[in-house]
Amino acid sequence: MATILGVGSSPSLSLKRDMREDVIRIGVIGYGYWGPNVVRNFHGQARSHVVAVCDKDPKSLGRVRQSYPDIFVTSDCNDLLTATDIDAVAVVTPVWTHYELAKAALENGKHVFVEKPFTCSTAQAEELIELAERKNLKIMVDHTFLFTGAVNRIRKLIDEGTLGDLYYYDSTRVNLGLFQHDVNVIWDLAPHDLSIMDYLIQEKPEAVVATGERHLNGVADVAFVTLYYPNNIIGHINVNWLSPVKVRTTLIGGEKKMLVWNDLEPDEKIKVYDKGVQMSNGDGRYQLLVSYRSGDMWAPRVEQVEALKAEAAYFADCILNNKKPFNDGAAGLHVVRMLEAADKSLQQKGKIIQL
Ligand SMILES: NC(=O)c1ccc[n+]([C@@H]2O[C@H](COP(=O)([O-])OP(=O)(O)OC[C@H]3O[C@@H](n4cnc5c(N)ncnc54)[C@H](O)[C@@H]3O)[C@@H](O)[C@H]2O)c1
Repeated sequence: MATILGVGSSPSLSLKRDMREDVIRIGVIGYGYWGPNVVRNFHGQARSHVVAVCDKDPKSLGRVRQSYPDIFVTSDCNDLLTATDIDAVAVVTPVWTHYELAKAALENGKHVFVEKPFTCSTAQAEELIELAERKNLKIMVDHTFLFTGAVNRIRKLIDEGTLGDLYYYDSTRVNLGLFQHDVNVIWDLAPHDLSIMDYLIQEKPEAVVATGERHLNGVADVAFVTLYYPNNIIGHINVNWLSPVKVRTTLIGGEKKMLVWNDLEPDEKIKVYDKGVQMSNGDGRYQLLVSYRSGDMWAPRVEQVEALKAEAAYFADCILNNKKPFNDGAAGLHVVRMLEAADKSLQQKGKIIQL
């Protein structure tokens, strides 16, 4: 059974367990900033265990050993990719490495959990989707926010018709850093909103406009992305690594109600306002009557769940029960398509790009 012998600590410790058919054995590649969250959440599940972690950086491996003495560690990803006793690989490395690592995992018969954004290009994403289909393997893209209580509550408010027809989605996602070296601020922060918009708005965007500027390391660190949807729905995302304060606030406006989602609020993350505007023609041809409605505000209960924990359980469920994840390769590809279009627009100082 054990094939990841000879590297790191003794593999027998990690591989003695998890032989049950209803437990997915996971190898995680990348234990930098986000990797520890992925390991903690996959390891603590009834139906998944992390059996091995790979990172090029010995300091990262030291941190794994300290927290999880039972997990096998290695600096060579081939140990994980070729291990016959690993069912799925989580790719938690910088964006430019996703395609190669995910491809190698699929080629070796492993299901793949891959960080956002899925890949650096639509061509790469399409190739991985085709490979996974051919090999009958799952791809899940970590669009973490889709598993939060807040996003699920907003989706419910939209589905129930509480907000009415949507007018706009306007998000501010800014903070100081963390500067990425391989992608600009749009590829780093906007995938969250793009995946949320795909989940909340029934329509697909038709065009993208992006403007932004670089100040420090050659990639845009401040950017504004606008998405045009059918039925006059408009989306706007403000992303910034040079903000003195952290803001995670989204306004969603509908014909019947409007809401504010402040993700930094510990309680009452969502506030729904019974506010709106109605216009009608008065007696005279040019007389426009505008009436403003200003009713109650209420804060719906939002389930407090660790999103990644719910997502990890869903990943195991999809594999064990052969279900298609809703945050699959196709969902990841659509986000990458919007990012690519945003880059094209950014390079042409805000030229409108049709999708
Ligand atoms: N879902 C989320 O909310 C969320 C949050 C943060 C980051 N991310 C994503 O997670 C990924 C990693 O981001 P991060 O901030 O943790 O980056 P990071 O630079 O902090 O960590 C990446 C780690 O991967 C290791 N690594 C790189 N290439 C490797 C290879 N070929 N083999 C083995 N190890 C390798 C590095 O040594 C490093 O420890 C990115 O795709 C990022 O977009 C997602």
